[in-house]
Amino acid sequence: MLQKVVRSTVIDAPIERVWAVLRDFNSHDQWHGVVERSRIEGGRRGDQVGAVRDFWLRDGNHIREQLLTLSDSDYKSTYCIVEASVPLQRYVATVTLKPVTDGRRTFWHWESSFATPPGRERELREMVAQGVYEAGFENLRRHLERGADLRTPGSEPQPTALPLPSRRAALRQYGGPEVLVAGDGEAPAPGAGEVRIRQRAVGVNYFDVYLRKGWLPSLLPVAADAPGVPGMEAAGTVIDVGAGVNGLLPGDRVAYMGPQPGAYCSVRTVPADWVVRLPAALEDASAAALLLKGVTADMLLRDLGHVRAGTRLLVHAAAGGVGLLLCAWARKLGATVIGTVSSEDKARVARAHGCEHVIVTRDYRFADAVQAECGGADVVVDGLGDAAREQNFAALARCGHWISLGQASGSLQPISPDWLVQKSITFSRPVVFDFVATQRQLAERAQRVWDALAAGSIQLPPIERYALGAAGQAHAQLESRRSIGALVLIP
Ligand SMILES: NC(=O)c1ccc[n+]([C@@H]2O[C@H](COP(=O)([O-])OP(=O)(O)OC[C@H]3O[C@@H](n4cnc5c(N)ncnc54)[C@H](OP(=O)(O)O)[C@@H]3O)[C@@H](O)[C@H]2O)c1
Repeated sequence: MLQKVVRSTVIDAPIERVWAVLRDFNSHDQWHGVVERSRIEGGRRGDQVGAVRDFWLRDGNHIREQLLTLSDSDYKSTYCIVEASVPLQRYVATVTLKPVTDGRRTFWHWESSFATPPGRERELREMVAQGVYEAGFENLRRHLERGADLRTPGSEPQPTALPLPSRRAALRQYGGPEVLVAGDGEAPAPGAGEVRIRQRAVGVNYFDVYLRKGWLPSLLPVAADAPGVPGMEAAGTVIDVGAGVNGLLPGDRVAYMGPQPGAYCSVRTVPADWVVRLPAALEDASAAALLLKGVTADMLLRDLGHVRAGTRLLVHAAAGGVGLLLCAWARKLGATVIGTVSSEDKARVARAHGCEHVIVTRDYRFADAVQAECGGADVVVDGLGDAAREQNFAALARCGHWISLGQASGSLQPISPDWLVQKSITFSRPVVFDFVATQRQLAERAQRVWDALAAGSIQLPPIERYALGAAGQAHAQLESRRSIGALVLIP
């Protein structure tokens, strides 16, 4: 009769981190106390289905096991014993992970079935349950707590109280893209509640242009002897963490967004509350292109636009960083998506990302086309500002909602309630950082963005990469209206 052993536990680490260890069929000698040595036969990779591993156990036993299935999307693998000096016969085991809903912990299920020589059932069940599974849970927990999964031998990061040098792009006076100049700065050691990050990719947002132009001097003060560093988001690797930081370790791959500028640099110290861990499959540049813009799209569609099947949604700059994400996600929700763009090239990309009705206009004339297409928009996402003011009003349907997101064409002149009342229009002026004011809110929204990407509800936008020192060129490109998708700086 086949014996069955089933054990499960919850590990205090996100699923991506646990899976990064378990998916490697050749990793057990690094974390499981019973395994002294592990080797994959024939030079195959540790995640290759069919690979056979040789285990030499500390008690002198030797086991050969074969990887039968491995699914990164289901976080699941199956393996069997091919040959063993312990009498486990027809042994097949499955490891399955599920995320716990708070996103920071992982449910781990481990089960197997096998036959034994008569009379040894109980002893061998006990050995597998306690000696392999329960001990494995405990050993992996310790391995992750030490951060040993994040280090390569000899490269353990040393906590240091010293500032680290940081290359940056900064301005000493407000002005055009040319005021952004490369220079040297430093990132202080992380204080309580802070993390220091080696940045691999920095997201460029249109908001950075407003800062550079001096529209928000209290947020980015600049002086000849105190340059201001723009930038609200980046992705990279944690160097060290300050006191009281939970859930982040040196070596973690992370991204952040925060309400204080300063991201145009190579090393930055930021509050841990701004930071989220990255899924293993998401590259740094993709994360920097997606985090702030994706969270903005989530805020617009869910919280402000209440976009659902049948909503008529007008998206300006539909081929831009935020625009492409909005088009795809809204379409997935069943909305009728109408977008404006300034060129045929942009129109093609917007269509490919789900924008059904594309209006090509460079001079902000779109209201008649919107009315003709769908009888007016229920929701307008307006990143254009002043030049599109009258047309936005005209494009809205009765009881429509005007979301003033940004002002690429110039500062929006005050809107009078007496004007809005003519069509019972509501108006909002959101700032995304107010919608991720706590780490929990940020983690939830970021997770929805990563999930939407994994599910195909949004696609990764085209990404234009610039060296950090060429930040001015990136700004010039963004302001020229030629950019498609997102821009990132590579420090
Ligand atoms: N409030 C918030 O929390 C928040 C958060 C994120 C983004 N935003 C806003 O959302 C908008 C989109 O941001 P993004 O970073 O994704 O930028 P983006 O859309 O990639 O780039 C801006 C686009 O605006 C359009 N545009 C129209 N008139 C322009 C002009 N006179 N000068 C320059 N561009 C003009 C251009 O598209 P076409 O040439 O196709 O018209 C341009 O490609 C911006 O207004 C930004 O400030 C606000």
